[in-house]
Amino acid sequence: MNAQNIRHRLPRRKKRKVFRISLVLFFFIFIGLGCASTHKTITEKTPHEFTFPKSFLWGAATSAHQVEGNNINNDWWEWEQIRLSQARSGQACDQWNRFEEDFHLAQTLGHTAHRFSIEWSRIEPHEGQWDTLALDHYARVIRSLRSKGIEPIVTLHHFTLPVWLAHQGGWASDKTPQLFARYVKKVTEILGSDVHYWMTLNEPVVYTYKGYLVGEWPPGVESFKEAIQVFQNLLRGHVLAYEEIKKTYVQENWKEPLVGIAQSVLIFRACTDNSLRDRVAARFRHWMFNHLFVQALVRGKAYCIGLFNIHLPRANTLDFIGLNYYTRDFVHHRGFGFPEILGQACTATVAQDRHTGKDNFLSWDIYPKGLHTFLKDFSRYKLPLLVSENGLATTDDAERSEFIIEHLKAVARAMEEGVPVIGYLYWSLLDNYEWAEGFVPRFGLIEVNYTTQERNIQPSAKKFEEIIRSGKISF
Ligand code: FCB
Repeated sequence: MNAQNIRHRLPRRKKRKVFRISLVLFFFIFIGLGCASTHKTITEKTPHEFTFPKSFLWGAATSAHQVEGNNINNDWWEWEQIRLSQARSGQACDQWNRFEEDFHLAQTLGHTAHRFSIEWSRIEPHEGQWDTLALDHYARVIRSLRSKGIEPIVTLHHFTLPVWLAHQGGWASDKTPQLFARYVKKVTEILGSDVHYWMTLNEPVVYTYKGYLVGEWPPGVESFKEAIQVFQNLLRGHVLAYEEIKKTYVQENWKEPLVGIAQSVLIFRACTDNSLRDRVAARFRHWMFNHLFVQALVRGKAYCIGLFNIHLPRANTLDFIGLNYYTRDFVHHRGFGFPEILGQACTATVAQDRHTGKDNFLSWDIYPKGLHTFLKDFSRYKLPLLVSENGLATTDDAERSEFIIEHLKAVARAMEEGVPVIGYLYWSLLDNYEWAEGFVPRFGLIEVNYTTQERNIQPSAKKFEEIIRSGKISF
């Protein structure tokens, strides 16, 4: 018997009664929902605390070339000598010799994790020749962290390549993914017993863009064709490295590690909100810069009509995703061809909604809300997320404290909403060499005097420590 039949059979009086009851019910449900939604608004506004899980990874990140000093065998060093007379890395923070002291400071500041990178040009200074002293050095680095209760998170490629490899085409060469996997295998065999978190590549898209599309970083190429080649080889390099790491751990009978990448994420907003063309440019950038690489690794393929059709040896080669989040960019339309469809950056105007109205030292918009947006957005991959970099270049340390607090609130909000965030790493532990910008931008929780190499803990590092020790953040 269906609903229609019942309706026909009810007498008129009964019908009216049913109608009245429905009306009352509807009224109560309506009021109820109304109350519930008001209640929700009130709860959100009520100050409350979020408690991070005990296992949450708290710490900071660095990279070899930016802190170690004297990495004379890599392509960046070579580039600096030719192109950057005002911004050479030199002895940087001399961390090659001072890691013990720096990790001790991290420990006193309550850090429970530390992300650093291994310098390929030190491990393999000539093709196929391994430097055992360099491998020993990194074994000591890892032991030093572990002895202080700090979890090492190891990046295998952070922008630099050995000179010998750069001279034979770097990532544009189809041989490089194999060579990368061979280096990764060596490193894993020697260091793996003490490492649980590996990050194969740092910001592969930024690397491709800066080095092969706009030519601002080594090797200074501006070729769309080569950029696609590099992009594809980086993807293959990751997959091969992933397999090598996993294989080694099985062979050695070590506990299975987690392997990921550090993906740079930038909010892209249209320069003019009601311009459809600007919005298309911003969308396209968002897909290409923020998602394409990760999507390709998850699906094992990447396709864009007329541009590329990439098939990888296998899918699902990410155990977690690292997000490097700093800022947002405003983009306007430049054309529908390629690369014009990626649009062009414009400077933000007062008319645009800026969260804090502040820029950092490098004129990067400060936009903490964006971190929440990305954590939610990347939760679509159903993988643990690590904030693998987030930081502020400033000479006003009070701004750094505020920056950290606001971004941690964004993390906490995402976690409250169910996003699996496993840690937060501030960039950077100490001031360091900021690539083409040299030593002027200061990102450090610890200030470095580059003449004396003295370290000076900033108040923001103490603020961060307070949050770490309490394991809580208040809204
Ligand atoms: C990121 C890089 C890192 C550092 C910060 C400021 O894009 O991964 O090396 O330069 O920016």
